[in-house]
Amino acid sequence: MYEKYFSLSRKPFELIPNPEFLYPSRSHRKAENYLDYAVREKAGFILLTGEVGSGKTTLVRHLLRKIGSDVRISKVFNTKLKPEELIQTINEDFGLETEGRSKVHLLKDLNDFLIEQYAEGRRAILIIDEAQNLSPDSLEEVRMLSNLETDDSKLLQIILVGQPELKEVLSSPELRQLRQRISIHCHLQPLTLSETEEYILYRLEIAGDREAVIFSPGAMELVYRFSKGIPRLINIMCDFLLLSAFAEETRYITEDLVLEVAGDTQFEGQFHIENDLLLQKRYRAPEVESSPSAQPVSEKGDLNFEWNMEKGEKSAGSEEAETIYLDEKDIVFSPQDRRTPVREENIQEGFMSRIRRFFMQEIF
Ligand SMILES: Nc1ncnc2c1ncn2[C@@H]1O[C@H](COP(=O)(O)OP(=O)(O)OP(=O)(O)O)[C@@H](O)[C@H]1O
Ligand SMILES: [Mg+2]
Repeated sequence: MYEKYFSLSRKPFELIPNPEFLYPSRSHRKAENYLDYAVREKAGFILLTGEVGSGKTTLVRHLLRKIGSDVRISKVFNTKLKPEELIQTINEDFGLETEGRSKVHLLKDLNDFLIEQYAEGRRAILIIDEAQNLSPDSLEEVRMLSNLETDDSKLLQIILVGQPELKEVLSSPELRQLRQRISIHCHLQPLTLSETEEYILYRLEIAGDREAVIFSPGAMELVYRFSKGIPRLINIMCDFLLLSAFAEETRYITEDLVLEVAGDTQFEGQFHIENDLLLQKRYRAPEVESSPSAQPVSEKGDLNFEWNMEKGEKSAGSEEAETIYLDEKDIVFSPQDRRTPVREENIQEGFMSRIRRFFMQEIF
């Protein structure tokens, strides 16, 4: 709709995982290198995780484009499948007949196919996207597939791709064996502020003109802040921004326009926006004295995370557990006096990483 106005050949901020637009952020480059290495070196099991909308599927599609004819690939994108349906889907994607085959036969067909490929010097890779949705039974089935091997080589390389919950699913005791097989794990990080800027310009360039719109530095910072560097959220916001700029017949994206668009899109619950932030624009955390302490903190029940702008506090807690407080460097403070830092070793494992994940991108 607005492409013509901005002299763009296509929409720069669509939500489809189109690898043509892949911007090589530091984290995406690193993950790509790991995946390349894993495919080349025939690492058995590879895990790729990342927050919702961080670019996992886009990266996988990019990888698929690069893979040569000496590799056979089966891709599974629908993971709400029973174990038997999973094997069926895998075989179908390898081009095998599955009609009326029992699970035993499906597994035999797959094994025969993999041996044939191996004998002909081809590699076989299975990519499972959205793997966080796989049931423990299906994951166990995937583990069994990783057992298919000759005396000296794995017959199937498996790449599991999923949201951070996947790591939690894999940490359950009954999946220990699978976990132990994962030889490479990479996690896609959100973009930094400068990467967010480069990302936006890069996508505009691929769509036809890097300078189609001009962001003021403050506007760019706000896009980063609202999206927390998550590419899908950046895309949603920038698409709205271009639409609004088009409506106002301007090529300049100002802070006010970002705040307006952020307010308009907030109802969808996609952005991490505090109403206060929209009014206040800037916020500074208070100075906090630090001294060592050893207050144990543990996670009980569902955690709530809060950011109280007025008091300048971020907190995490639940009805059962005492609320804890964090400073701007995400140092956890004791529930008692809110000024004494808690040593990390006193914080229940898992709890800290959840807190970090939650606050990681909050900038002040
Ligand atoms: N490095 C990148 N360069 C360009 N575009 C990107 C990049 N990373 C993500 N995107 C874009 O962000 C959007 C979301 O990406 P994608 O669907 O790959 O995320 P995801 O991690 O697979 O999300 P989900 O967890 O929902 O499956 C897409 O429009 C995609 O093109
Ligand atoms: Mg995806």
